[in-house]
Amino acid sequence: MAKSSSNGRPSSVKLVFILFFTVVVGAALVSDLLWASLSHSHSSSSNWVVVKQERLVEKRRDPVRDRNLPATFMDLNATELQWEEMASAPVARLDGAAVQIGDLLYVFAGYRTIDYVNSHVDVYNFTDNTWCGKFDMPKEMAHSHLGVASDGRYIYVVTGQYGPQCRGPVAHTFVLDTMTRQWRRMPPLPAPRYAPATQLWRGRLHVMGGSKEDRYEPALEHWSIAVNDGRVLENEWRAEIPIPRGGPHRACIVVDDRLFVIGGQEGDFMAKPGSPIFKCSRRHEVVYGDVYMLDDKMNWKVLPPMPKPDSHIEFAWAVINNSIVIVGGTTEKHPVTKKMILVGEVFQFHLNTLKWSVIGKMPFRVKTTLVGFWDGWLYFTSGQRDRGPDDPSPRKVIGNMFRTKLSF
Ligand SMILES: *[C@@H]1O[C@H](CO)[C@@H](O)[C@H](O)[C@H]1NC(C)=O
Ligand SMILES: *[C@@H]1O[C@H](CO)[C@@H](O)[C@H](O)[C@H]1NC(C)=O
Ligand SMILES: *[C@@H]1O[C@H](CO)[C@@H](O)[C@H](O)[C@H]1NC(C)=O
Repeated sequence: MAKSSSNGRPSSVKLVFILFFTVVVGAALVSDLLWASLSHSHSSSSNWVVVKQERLVEKRRDPVRDRNLPATFMDLNATELQWEEMASAPVARLDGAAVQIGDLLYVFAGYRTIDYVNSHVDVYNFTDNTWCGKFDMPKEMAHSHLGVASDGRYIYVVTGQYGPQCRGPVAHTFVLDTMTRQWRRMPPLPAPRYAPATQLWRGRLHVMGGSKEDRYEPALEHWSIAVNDGRVLENEWRAEIPIPRGGPHRACIVVDDRLFVIGGQEGDFMAKPGSPIFKCSRRHEVVYGDVYMLDDKMNWKVLPPMPKPDSHIEFAWAVINNSIVIVGGTTEKHPVTKKMILVGEVFQFHLNTLKWSVIGKMPFRVKTTLVGFWDGWLYFTSGQRDRGPDDPSPRKVIGNMFRTKLSF
């Protein structure tokens, strides 16, 4: 396996950072629009705007026409799906985490409100469709922006943000034995991260990208450590080939011995300087639809991008019949209003043809959905939903669970 220093990127990347921070200083938008009034709910969407992706790109370069862009301009033409609402999770969660093992979905952590974070795991059983269990996370474990991977029994949980608002990250790392529900500590990451791409691959736990300690700067570092049946076989993490683009909130999936990293963003909310509660403050972000694949020679390959840029999808995926299905997320902000735009489509990446398609619409747009697939049903729960069919900006943090029968 190729070893590499943790900074193998050309200096153009640094230039991008400098550009980023220049923009940051000029664009310190306050976060309150994201978190204002998280208490109102809306009915399902019906009048989505129909536009083609190619026309969007052209449109967004035209400042005169930009002024007439509807808020929903990023919505793609997609068919309706029949969604059935199931039992809601015991608590709402945004930026939580999820792992499916057999017919159980373990959902971890997450913000319940901007000032309160969950510190436990809820368990849903897809066979009898009940929330059937709850247990605590270790006190030292981060509460959001976790990196999580599983081998089918053990769940590895690395780093993340500790506490509410935009508090700092911790490097603590744990492994859960789902048979005994016992947690064990693992060697901490070399540096803490927010929402790094995390997966088990070829006997090693890989942790890539994410945001650095300031919550904003994209990290390119890629570390791995050998693990087996919940045991760590090495004393420390080793540096691997850096990821071509850093940043948090990407889907990271291993299928057929290939590791995929999909979507995500550069930049994120940061703590307001000097704020005693680390109040979240909005900063410039760029959202990507990039797809990278790590092959057996440890080289990154670039694959066809998603139908539109998509972030906040780290636990929003399922592998179904040689394809990757991704549910919801966030896309680029509105060019005029600068509001965050949520995603309300279900995407499919066909692994034999490497082509993307849009399966259909969700009941509404949601970011950081937690997804599972069982017996032909695609499930999603949790996240933060939109303000309504005509307003794709974020509002209520939810615990609702929905499912739809899939047939390709
Ligand atoms: C949207 O999808 C419907 C159904 O597939 C199709 O009939 C219609 O032409 C599409 N519209 C656009 C603008 O692509
Ligand atoms: C899920 O529920 C079904 C029906 O009650 C039960 O047979 C099954 O064992 C449960 N799954 C697990 C992993 O406990
Ligand atoms: C996946 O493939 C199996 C076997 O061909 C088929 O029975 C099943 O319906 C497929 N699943 C979906 C969601 O289409």
